[in-house]
Amino acid sequence: MKVDVILGLQWGDEGKGKIVDALAPQYDIIARFQGGPNAGHTIIFNSRKFVLHSVPSGIFRSNILNIIGNGVVLDPFIFFQEIDAIREAGFDPSSNLLISRSAHFIMPSHRLLDAVNEAAMGEKKIGSTLKGIGPCYTDKYKRSGLRVGELEHNGFQTEYESRREIHMKLIAASGVDYRGILLDGLPFDEYEQEWLKAAHKMKQFRIAATEIEINKSMAAGKKVLAEGAQGTLLDVDFGSYPFVTSSNTMTGGVCTGLGVAPSHVGKVFGIFKAYCTRVGNGPFPTELFDDMGELLRKNGNEFGATTGRPRRTGWLDMPALRYSVMLNGVTDLIMTKADVLSGLETIKVCDAYKCADKLYDMPDIPAGCLPDLIIKEMNGWSADITTTTQANQLPPALTEYSRFVEKSAGAHLSYISTGPDREQIIKL
Ligand code: GDP
Ligand code: IMO
Ligand code: MG
Repeated sequence: MKVDVILGLQWGDEGKGKIVDALAPQYDIIARFQGGPNAGHTIIFNSRKFVLHSVPSGIFRSNILNIIGNGVVLDPFIFFQEIDAIREAGFDPSSNLLISRSAHFIMPSHRLLDAVNEAAMGEKKIGSTLKGIGPCYTDKYKRSGLRVGELEHNGFQTEYESRREIHMKLIAASGVDYRGILLDGLPFDEYEQEWLKAAHKMKQFRIAATEIEINKSMAAGKKVLAEGAQGTLLDVDFGSYPFVTSSNTMTGGVCTGLGVAPSHVGKVFGIFKAYCTRVGNGPFPTELFDDMGELLRKNGNEFGATTGRPRRTGWLDMPALRYSVMLNGVTDLIMTKADVLSGLETIKVCDAYKCADKLYDMPDIPAGCLPDLIIKEMNGWSADITTTTQANQLPPALTEYSRFVEKSAGAHLSYISTGPDREQIIKL
């Protein structure tokens, strides 16, 4: 069997959690391959809402094994907040969760460094979620990171302290008084105590060489789904650098983040919202600053699942979407939040960028050009689609919008999501 992939084609928050949860019954294993608690994946079923940050979105299905892969960075404090919420809701994540030995720990001092780095950048700051992602991946690639497998050896505390000491020297050199920085509402020292307790508690979960588990499972005929975090336009190589996250959010990240060979990648489901959002700083060509932008934010409830920040909103950006489809080898598109556009008389889409009278169908515009947008206007629809269950009952204008997008993006549209609940999804 091959590994199928679900990932975001925009700047994150496309509805990955919802879609993974909805498609999960088709799989035996769901595995996160990159990112960490910067992610916030919302899942709604039976009128209950969960926001997952580190735990894969198959956790509410007891017959599915959920794997936190080697490419993920993990903060045990945040991880246990999540685990406690899952347990309180009556689920037992210790029975169906497996964690890679090679996943890296986000240390409390990584979070301080994140805050210090962002403060130092002033106006140019990235708008990080401040979960310590950048500093943790920096240590990973500097070959000085602290990995989950270290828990299995004596001397975890010594290893922890040796890294902490280096981080604290960097923080002292920055001149920022870290005691003024709260981590999830706690002063550093208190957070650190809780973090260390949580790190040791992680031994109650199975820690393993997940790359072997995944490959053996595939060989035995099990179906694996890789769950992306963030989105392609936040990819560290191909996103709007430096306004990106610190991992490869694209299909390529599945290979290195789980230990799966490229020849074992199967379907790639690329999720996009029927419009665009972005949280944090960086370019956003189709951003709306008017009442329409506000309406999309209000109707789409566009507030960050991790930080609560209002999300920037804008029309669908086809050059960016085509680029993401190309980079990921998308075999199947999934459109979410089509219901948010219901009631709009006209829907706009950016079909191309224009710089100095030249049209661009992908974001390869000359450096320094602030492109004009070639906007296509399409008819909207008035019907409420949140209870529609059949593709042939969708409003014709939505079908036309979908056909335009799939033709223009060059990939087949397989599902339309019509609301946040697990059940609100239509297979085309
Ligand atoms: P993720 O990070 O990609 O998992 O997405 P988030 O959970 O951060 O943000 C997506 C938001 O949209 C969440 O509040 C979801 O409950 C919600 N959502 C997902 N799909 C749909 C949909 O089709 N329609 C509507 N109205 N909301 C959706
Ligand atoms: P999910 O998985 C949306 C953004 C941040 C910031 C930039 C870098 O829920 O889609 P970082 O904390 O990684 O240093 O932040 O990336 N960002 C996200 N935006 N959804 C996410 O995850 C994000 N994870 C990071 O806002 O602009
Ligand atoms: Mg999110």
